[in-house]
Amino acid sequence: MNAGFSRLTTTDDELGRAGRGGFATGATFDFLEPTSTPGAGNFDVLAYLSSAHRLVVLEDAGRSTVAVPLEPQLSLDYMAAIGIAAETAPGEPVDVIARFAFPLPFMVISELLGMPVGDRDQLRAWSHEMTNSIEPFNDEPTLRRMVAAAENMLRHIDDAIAWKRRNPADDLLSALLAAEEDGDRLTHDELRDQVVLLYIAGHETTVNLIGNGTLALLRHRDQFERLAADPSLDANAVDELLRYDSPVQVSRRITTTDIEIGGEGIGPGELVLTLLGSSNRDEHKWGPTAGDLDVGREGASGHLSFGSGIHHCLGSALARLEGAEAVPALVRRFPRMELATDTPAWNGRIVLRGLDALPVEVR
Ligand code: HEM
Repeated sequence: MNAGFSRLTTTDDELGRAGRGGFATGATFDFLEPTSTPGAGNFDVLAYLSSAHRLVVLEDAGRSTVAVPLEPQLSLDYMAAIGIAAETAPGEPVDVIARFAFPLPFMVISELLGMPVGDRDQLRAWSHEMTNSIEPFNDEPTLRRMVAAAENMLRHIDDAIAWKRRNPADDLLSALLAAEEDGDRLTHDELRDQVVLLYIAGHETTVNLIGNGTLALLRHRDQFERLAADPSLDANAVDELLRYDSPVQVSRRITTTDIEIGGEGIGPGELVLTLLGSSNRDEHKWGPTAGDLDVGREGASGHLSFGSGIHHCLGSALARLEGAEAVPALVRRFPRMELATDTPAWNGRIVLRGLDALPVEVR
């Protein structure tokens, strides 16, 4: 069933605060010991990241502003060649997620933040466990793994912060540290929370954009070939892929007032799950072709995959940029790429919908 698209776009004020999962502050559960002190959370990072202006604006609850120009040195499209072509024998299946969809956004966010080079696979595993905290249902073993991963990740972030203090550079983490050292603008816990949030939000989601998007194109050969042949479609195609198979299917809000949705009354203070992926297929908004993949779709950018209102994804410009570099580069570099299986393994998540692996043959 589709959640009403217009309802989601108009009720953001009423829906008020974002009901965020616990991964930025460490999770606490009554059967486990608390893992960290939640930060006060009054420091917002507002970002405008685009190819033209790599500028991150850090705004401390209206008290002060720091502007940091960022020039990541990464050339995004070279990843298409190194990630997949390397070590690939002709005819041998290769995993798009492990070789391409994960390393690219992970390297980009690591470089933007200025994180030390670490054990990428280990960090990926911790990060992936931690994102279970935004899933609506978790069993106890998952929760225990999640808390253990959060403890390891927080230790790693603390080490990274200590390292960055000794090795400041022209990057986001150095800018955040300067704000912290400035006195009362950012506490250590707030700093750590922001770094964890950016580090994880900065790649888990984009992995799904590249993975789900590549799968959608491989399952719609006409659209794959259309995109491969026409670079003017790149930006629009990424929005259509975000709409067609949303990397984040659900966001959440806590109501601030009485509202009514679909004839149901909801009182203030209630947790509401907003079904972004469902809205992106709502025929009232998208018409009878809502379920089709059309890389040239008019108005594709009107999807809700980045949420809405004041909590609209702050990395959306960066994510669009990465997607528009990565996916077209992949289809053009490997125009004869094919699925190596009809049933790639999904990660089983409700919120962060993505693939565990996407085996393809690149030929
Ligand atoms: C395809 C990639 C991405 C998708 C689909 C995505 C999606 C989302 C969604 C749905 C939200 C919640 C919005 C809401 O509650 O209304 C969000 C929030 C957020 N995103 Fe993203 N995101 C992506 C990439 C990124 C990247 C690359 C970064 C960091 C550089 C990032 C940082 C954040 C942060 C910090 C928030 C919290 C904003 C707030 O609560 O004020 N995201 N994102």
